[in-house]
Amino acid sequence: MPARRPKVFAIVPAAGSGLRLGGATRKQFLLLRSKPIIVHTLQRFEHCSDVDEVAVAVPVSAIVDMESIVSRYRLHKVSKVIVGGDQRQDSVALVLKTLRARPSDIIMVHDGVRPFIEPKKIAQSIAACKEHGAAVLAVQPKDTIRRSRGGRFFDETLDRSALWMVQTPQTFRADILQKAFRQAAKDRFYSTDEAALVERIGVRPRIVEGSYDNIKITTKEDLDLAELIHERLLGRPE
Ligand code: C5P
Repeated sequence: MPARRPKVFAIVPAAGSGLRLGGATRKQFLLLRSKPIIVHTLQRFEHCSDVDEVAVAVPVSAIVDMESIVSRYRLHKVSKVIVGGDQRQDSVALVLKTLRARPSDIIMVHDGVRPFIEPKKIAQSIAACKEHGAAVLAVQPKDTIRRSRGGRFFDETLDRSALWMVQTPQTFRADILQKAFRQAAKDRFYSTDEAALVERIGVRPRIVEGSYDNIKITTKEDLDLAELIHERLLGRPE
């Protein structure tokens, strides 16, 4: 029997409190040109033929809304809407436990508040993961980066050519990601991304050139910038 092609799962953590930005509305549900940010993000995966299944983590208070968003926007690939945890890593871990992935399948993690991920980049990340076991999108900083220990004076200038700003998706062979999360749970190790967890078990993710449009919407300025990016990308295929 021919080997089954690896199935590709996307975990989308969107369970942050994110209330700072939008008052009563969590930032992942704020409207960007009349559509919630999380819908923009999920549609990118819906339209990427390499992705088979999507699982989303949201706060407990948003479960019902998220389920109705999934049906309203016909997000057919979203198979699971799950209650997230205290930290982003907890949310990803909770979703990961529910996935029925085989060891050779692929699991990617993408922030719910990065709505401009291009399907082409998702596909590149999957291809790099198939070759190297782990792949992470990143871009190089345009500014000079300096270190300051006390926050008042600079101590040193870092070599910009060796620095990368890490984005998502971060894409892994399922067995690697599961082992990394098991180890992190055992050691009570927390990080802001999955790459740091897999590095702890000796796997080096391959860098995939990301895009400066793939912003994480965190502050009000990001939301304003997102409007501009959206306008510029309008008319281009998603
Ligand atoms: O906190 P940060 O801005 O890095 O969040 C990145 C993503 O992780 C967001 O989409 C956010 O909703 C999600 N998150 C989560 N569970 C948490 C905290 C953040 O799913 N407890």
